[in-house]
Amino acid sequence: MVKSISLPAPAILSAPLKDALSQRRTNRECSSEALTDAELAALLWASAGITADDGRRTTPSTLDLRAVSPYVLRKDGVWRWDAAQNELEQLASEDVRKVSTAYQFEYVEKAPVTIAFVVDTERAKTARPTGPYVDAGTMGQSCYLAAASLGLAGCIRASFDHDELRKAMTLDERFEPIVLFTCGRPLSFNSNSR
Ligand SMILES: Cc1cc2nc3c(=O)[nH]c(=O)nc-3n(C[C@H](O)[C@H](O)[C@H](O)COP(=O)(O)O)c2cc1C
Repeated sequence: MVKSISLPAPAILSAPLKDALSQRRTNRECSSEALTDAELAALLWASAGITADDGRRTTPSTLDLRAVSPYVLRKDGVWRWDAAQNELEQLASEDVRKVSTAYQFEYVEKAPVTIAFVVDTERAKTARPTGPYVDAGTMGQSCYLAAASLGLAGCIRASFDHDELRKAMTLDERFEPIVLFTCGRPLSFNSNSR
């Protein structure tokens, strides 16, 4: 049976957009303390939350294919976010965070959450090759803005072995992790984190 976790309503993202944009910053200095489920739900909602009856989302998608989706890598495994149900569905119980970096092992293994933006290439097959990469980039920016609003530290990352991570996530070849957003609680107060 597939293990799943119902997430609560997303934490409120109340920072004015101007403040969130001004405070958006890459911050790799985070503790290993877990994020709350509401904080995680807010990051996921910001990246791909459904905001219309026809299924359109917080972020744009090439040809409206919605071929890129967020997955969650944590100590307790690999999870796919079901946006309609606001639920995490477990794909694997292994901690694969270390496979999600080519060189930043200490930071990446310590940070409690990495969100992987993964394209379903079958679903994206009518799109131009760059389309899903743009989708994933907008999702990363949305995560940055949500993290700024929540006072969390975050970093978008592309330096990893995409095929090795795909295998570790137990995804078949039609899927490709494009880019990652690693997030945690900042180690200390600074101008980049409220
Ligand atoms: C496409 C892309 C890939 C990136 N890959 C990595 C990465 O693998 N590791 C990392 O630490 N930072 C990565 N970064 C973060 C950049 O280093 C960071 O955005 C840059 O230093 C500017 O800092 P800022 O985000 O605070 O403006 C990446 C950024 C982008 C846009």
